[in-house]
Amino acid sequence: MPVQFRSGECIPLEMHKARMVQRLNLLPVEERLIASQEAGNNTFLLKNRDVFLDMLSDSGVNAMSQAQFAAMLNADDSYAGSETFYRLEEAIREVFGTRFFLPAHQGRACENIISQTFIKPGQTALMNYHFTTTKAHIMRNGGKVVEIVRKEGLEVNSTLPFKGDLDIQRLRDEIKKTGVENIAFLRIEAGTNLIGGQPVSVANMREAVKIAQEAGILTVFDASLLSDNLYFIKIREKDFADKPLGEITLELGNLFDIIYFSARKLGCARGGGIITNREDLYNAMISLVPLYEGFLTYGGMSVREMEALAVGLRESLDFHVIEQTPIFVDAFSRELMAAKIPVVTPAGGLGCHVNAMEFCGHLRQEEYRAGALATAAYIAGGVRGMERGTLSEERNADGSEHFAEMELLRLAVPKRVFTLSQIKYAADRLTWLYEKRHLIGGLKFVFEPKVLRFFFGRLEPLSDWPQNLAREFRKDFGESL
Ligand code: F0G
Repeated sequence: MPVQFRSGECIPLEMHKARMVQRLNLLPVEERLIASQEAGNNTFLLKNRDVFLDMLSDSGVNAMSQAQFAAMLNADDSYAGSETFYRLEEAIREVFGTRFFLPAHQGRACENIISQTFIKPGQTALMNYHFTTTKAHIMRNGGKVVEIVRKEGLEVNSTLPFKGDLDIQRLRDEIKKTGVENIAFLRIEAGTNLIGGQPVSVANMREAVKIAQEAGILTVFDASLLSDNLYFIKIREKDFADKPLGEITLELGNLFDIIYFSARKLGCARGGGIITNREDLYNAMISLVPLYEGFLTYGGMSVREMEALAVGLRESLDFHVIEQTPIFVDAFSRELMAAKIPVVTPAGGLGCHVNAMEFCGHLRQEEYRAGALATAAYIAGGVRGMERGTLSEERNADGSEHFAEMELLRLAVPKRVFTLSQIKYAADRLTWLYEKRHLIGGLKFVFEPKVLRFFFGRLEPLSDWPQNLAREFRKDFGESL
């Protein structure tokens, strides 16, 4: 909850207390340098023991509540017909108002099932913006992705409160141009991940869905980042300021034909699910669950996680629970902006997004500006962020680089995990790095997987810049870690 201090300064006060903690390591800069080299300068490949602040993702690493832990002890282990499943189904019905639920082991598993069922080769999936795994599954099934986010969504700095909104005119034009029979579905992603965790307004979703449904196009909602999105609906969309979160969620549950989510994000647990009110769609997907996930009453999830999820979903209708990430992201972004560091604005959910296009403007885009910045941020502070730029794209069919529209370093702020002093530490190290940004050099692949290369590709610096950076750090910070 933002509160004001006597000085006038506004602080994102934590509305929870830590009752279980995990010890952290902050390695000396020389050891961070070695750890980065051993990880192929890819933050995905770092060992967590070498990381001080793990800001790679909010996926599966949000803090759980005591009620969630308590519920885990109540799990009913059974291959088929577990009580746990029915409790989770009931929680989903209560939160979204939907009748049918297919469990899956995580969000991308839902994407696999949805893409296999609804994408025919050559078809297009229209969406505000893609997520990496979403696009990979659609393409794997012969489909293609057309993004129709409003143009402000792709501008790093804008004053638009809902940068994840779809461009309604473009939606109409694309439907006309592509033809309804060539469109597999319209997908709207809450808290649009790759453009900086930017929300979509209810008004925009209503309008887009209406157009799609009138044209007979299936509508799909990716609710993985719904919590952050709900927070922004409450504080930025006038009509909803006084609406309970439960009511808004029920409306969204009723709006779309299919909703899916990663429960590694939504509900602060681990797992995923597809929900719908339409029996025909449920029946179309059902056989893929036992094939890829597990029996219909667990879908690859552990029953303990399912119990935690049932509680977590209900808790995500508590404003103090969902506000925690956005208010910390806002504070983090403000600290960086005060040091003139270019960040995505308005601040969104999920994490703070640093604009590497500008931060590392002295590098060429093919030298992976955001990837280089991620490596540098780890060396400078033991802070592990994630590249969200060209590295996260796949090459064009002819082997040339597909340059991302944005080159971002995402510093995720998982829910209720970090303290304000840790956020301030990360901002301080980023500020130092910004002052020394001319020392950051480029990267090149030495091992480049074809699909989702950012996960396990290995890179090499184009010069000995990481060593120089570490040396400079030692010079400036003396004995400090
Ligand atoms: N959709 C969105 C919007 C996501 O952010 C993610 C995951 C998925 C789908 C896939 O879900 O990981 O459970 O398979 N995002 C993670 C991230 C990986 O770090 O942003 P998953």
